[in-house]
Amino acid sequence: MSAPENELTGHEYDGIEEYDNPLPGWWSALFALSAVFAVFYVVYVHLGEEGKDLHAEYDAEAAEVMEIRFGQLGTLTADRDTLLQYKDDEKWLVAGKAVFQTHCVSCHGKDGEGLVGVNLTDDHYKHITTIEDIVKVIEDGAAGGAMPAWKNRIPHVNQVVLTAAYVASLRGTHAAGGKAPEGKEIPAWDAPAEP
Ligand code: HEC
Repeated sequence: MSAPENELTGHEYDGIEEYDNPLPGWWSALFALSAVFAVFYVVYVHLGEEGKDLHAEYDAEAAEVMEIRFGQLGTLTADRDTLLQYKDDEKWLVAGKAVFQTHCVSCHGKDGEGLVGVNLTDDHYKHITTIEDIVKVIEDGAAGGAMPAWKNRIPHVNQVVLTAAYVASLRGTHAAGGKAPEGKEIPAWDAPAEP
């Protein structure tokens, strides 16, 4: 199919001719506009004052939401009674589950069934004999960092406590596809402390 003469640029290479199809005006305008926008974006978002980039904004907002929510709880202490109470508290376990989904599933699996990390849904544990030990392992890590320490990475103590409570609540759920139990079987969380 031959194009009309006036739509060719007149360039010819080895008999191959070039159509003269300029980019539509709106397209060029958009391109120019996004180039100009990029300059402002870099200056504003990356070179601007602290706290203007998206991560900082997100962190600030998340902290605010957390403060409002945790305002209702006060500051939790990581003791046995608190953990036993919150491991059955559907409403607040959601906060622990959220942390777990963000930081823990990569190694412990989406339901705690275990991947690189151990299965958290059976009754066997390697580093844990009492419910408070869960907090210790989360804060300080274990196995020389194979289980990382989260002390400085989970900002609010309530989050640590609720994450521990969530981990406690996973016990005995025997998630499908779980890793074989490791460590030893330990007494129920609410078993009376050994004399
Ligand atoms: C980089 C991988 C990794 C991540 C991420 C990770 N863990 Fe672990 N975790 C491990 C490994 C590996 C072990 C077992 C260590 C061992 O074999 O002694 C472990 C052990 C544990 C234990 C002790 C289990 C026992 O049997 O004593 C708990 C509790 C635990 N993790 C909770 C968590 C929580 C909660 C998070 C998220 C905040 C988390 N882990 C994130 C790898 C990870």
